[in-house]
Amino acid sequence: MGIYLDSAATSYPKPDCVLKAMRHYFEDIGANSGRSAHKLAQEASRLVFETREGIAKLIGVKDSSRIIFTSNATEGLNLAILGSLKEGDRVITTSMEHNSVMRPLRFLEEESGIKVDVIKCSKEGVLEPDDIKKKITQNTRLIIATAASNVVGTIMPIRDIGRIARKHNIPFLVDAAQTAGSLPIDVEKSQIDMIVFSGHKGLLGPQGTGCLYIKEGVELTPLKFGGTGSRSEFEIQPDFLPDKYESGTPNLIGIAGLGASVKFILEKGVENIRRKEEKLTEYLLQKLKEIKKVIIYGTQDSRKQTSVVSINIKNMESSDVGDILDRDYDIGVRCGLHCAPIAHKTIGTFPSGTVRISSGYFNTEADIDYLSRAIREIAQ
Ligand code: ALA
Repeated sequence: MGIYLDSAATSYPKPDCVLKAMRHYFEDIGANSGRSAHKLAQEASRLVFETREGIAKLIGVKDSSRIIFTSNATEGLNLAILGSLKEGDRVITTSMEHNSVMRPLRFLEEESGIKVDVIKCSKEGVLEPDDIKKKITQNTRLIIATAASNVVGTIMPIRDIGRIARKHNIPFLVDAAQTAGSLPIDVEKSQIDMIVFSGHKGLLGPQGTGCLYIKEGVELTPLKFGGTGSRSEFEIQPDFLPDKYESGTPNLIGIAGLGASVKFILEKGVENIRRKEEKLTEYLLQKLKEIKKVIIYGTQDSRKQTSVVSINIKNMESSDVGDILDRDYDIGVRCGLHCAPIAHKTIGTFPSGTVRISSGYFNTEADIDYLSRAIREIAQ
């Protein structure tokens, strides 16, 4: 791939330390964690523990046992949503969510008669926190918001929503798939009860990794039951964390890579990563604004969005633009609906979609120069 601008789908390349840690696990450890007692098994358990501690530090959690490893953000969201709602409950969410939130909710609406209240965001994807207040009822049992849109990058007012949720004693679930590792977050300060993210996007780790943090006091029904290596004398699931929600052999090679990528991020500092990415997004927006026939969606303000920028070229299908970028310029972007039809309905691009340009930590101004030249030529 010449120029990779699809970091919102998954980050590429990964830091060298991630590759080394994964190789080290397979070459020198290889054992299962939390089961056997031999040296290699102990080393595998230590690796899992250290990764969990790194994640906890990154999001401001003191007790790392409350971080659950999942196979991706989708699994974490399913556990948080399916595990906490029951018949008659209402849930509030936003019109900028990904299908990993909307599909479990629509399933529960059909199957269990829960009611979904969707707060309409502006065309730029901006949420007015007071609109949440107005929708709260006696039966509202959960509030869910993305930390930032995967379509236009708009950053949500998480702290304001957290304040409202806590005041009304309603659990607050955040989908941070698009911001973990790229935007600082503190679950205590933002009054978050559950937060979910993948390990392979801004966290720069491997695919097949994800996390769910569950605040003390929040009880969820597990999605999976089975062996945990603990309390093996009982046929019922342990009720302590993380074992309650982590049945089956974990993705140890993935967790090894994630541990290294989280260490890399903690060393760089999330604030510094954000500054770098914000500067590049500002540069990209400025370049795109100079091109006639380009429509830019979202806030068009790098301070209010992640490094996700969605555009269209007038009178062209987004998929055609993506194909030309790939075929003639060797540039990788993602076109279409980005698994978020409700977000596209909100910004007015449903069903045709947009061309999504998402830069990452390793992109440079030279990449943006090349992309904007390509877009200019296609638009002409
Ligand atoms: N949810 C990811 C995206 O937006 C895969 O592309």
